[in-house]
Amino acid sequence: MTKKTEPKLPNRANPYSEAFKAFIPEQWAPYPATWRDPSPVTAYTPGRREAIQRQFPHDRLVIPAGGYKVRSNDCDYRFRPHSAFSHMTGLGEDFEPDAALIIEDGVAALYFHARVERTDPEFYSSATYGEMWVGARPSLAEMAHYSALTVKDAADLNAALAAPLAHSDGMIRIVPGADRRIEDLVNALRGPNTSADQELEVALSELRLVKDQFEVEQMEQACAATLTGFEAVIADMPEAVRRGRGERWVEGVFGLHARHQGNALGYDTIAAAGDHACTLHWIRNDGDLRDGDLLLLDAGVEVDSLYTADITRTLPVSGRFSPAQRQVYRAVLAAQQAGIDAAKPGAKFLDVHNAAVKVLCKHLASWDLLPVSVEETMSEQGGQWRRWMVHGTSHHLGIDVHDCAQARRENYRAGTLKAGMIITVEPGLYFKATDLMLPEEFRGIGVRIEDDILITEDGCRVLSSAFPRDPDDVEEWIANVQSR
Ligand code: GLY
Ligand code: MN
Ligand code: MN
Repeated sequence: MTKKTEPKLPNRANPYSEAFKAFIPEQWAPYPATWRDPSPVTAYTPGRREAIQRQFPHDRLVIPAGGYKVRSNDCDYRFRPHSAFSHMTGLGEDFEPDAALIIEDGVAALYFHARVERTDPEFYSSATYGEMWVGARPSLAEMAHYSALTVKDAADLNAALAAPLAHSDGMIRIVPGADRRIEDLVNALRGPNTSADQELEVALSELRLVKDQFEVEQMEQACAATLTGFEAVIADMPEAVRRGRGERWVEGVFGLHARHQGNALGYDTIAAAGDHACTLHWIRNDGDLRDGDLLLLDAGVEVDSLYTADITRTLPVSGRFSPAQRQVYRAVLAAQQAGIDAAKPGAKFLDVHNAAVKVLCKHLASWDLLPVSVEETMSEQGGQWRRWMVHGTSHHLGIDVHDCAQARRENYRAGTLKAGMIITVEPGLYFKATDLMLPEEFRGIGVRIEDDILITEDGCRVLSSAFPRDPDDVEEWIANVQSR
């Protein structure tokens, strides 16, 4: 197996002496008898694997976890498996770099780099897998118990890829872009087949469009953990103002709770105060928080199973909205409510967007900002309104913050909502300080309100309903949290 590049620079090499090699394997306590109970996701993962195999009944499906990605020289980013691997195996921790799942003929096998004996030099010399470097890894048997998968040694992966197919009319398909080394092996065996691989990628992405009960529960937990992070930020807003560079303080406070409550941030936190709120992906977060400004906080905790919330609240730093801020906020809130009201099974995905945009456009028209009628600006030839909200209103949400991104257009943007789908509803108005078309009191105000909703049998449920939305409730929320 390929290993992460071990430090081999002459100025740092420190060869192991024979005396050390003889000494190191001796007198270690045995590993504990048990590692972990089976993960609850194992009630769902067999069904997910059957569903993908049904779409390619004669094929060998290769779903790699992926490897480490370098951040800076010897330092990698924290490992996160490919989302399709996580969905199919239920695994999402730091054990799986270089692993791969193979599904064929109804059988799923995980090829996994397990713990080695302490007599193996890997114990002390491998910065990728060695117990002395990264902690004890599960054994093959422990991983099999935890994941309810057949687990095989990663060293056997190459042979498994090259073995004769179970069905003579089958082919190998591999998730593209997940693991270059395994993809090269597959391509060497069968030749490149981009379209076959893309079909697998699309199918795996579309399988995640409708969430199962386990996924819904994880999303509920992600929303609850995210609420903890938001409330910690609110409690610390006065400190963020006092310290200067308050956006970074906000980012840090939320990040603390994301790591404490869950696995990580689901995406880089947007902590955007004042005019920065009008920069949609403001993640530089190096500005001050000032009394009188709004703080747009778009942040989500990714729980240990890797499901993430994606929530935005726009908060008055002083605790009170100014009249102009409240006016803009109310327009966005009305648009969001219209979007939520349109979200039900059988509705088109775009109905949510169109309902929200119509309300936004009516407000823009009432403020004399549109050069044409609401109907005309909402037509394909119009679109002037987008000057103030250039993004979409919704996306699917789950293991990826922008989940199911490889799904076909007819199943996503042009698709129909179904019970079990989880999407965001996140309209906004972004009135840049430099926009001379705006009345002065609106300039520098950016508002987004983003909630995560589950489509139910008869409508939808707001998974993030514990976050106040009404401006009076937001003010009360800030006062309550800050007086705790
Ligand atoms: N936080 C990214 C988004 O709202 O899509
Ligand atoms: Mn979003
Ligand atoms: Mn967001």
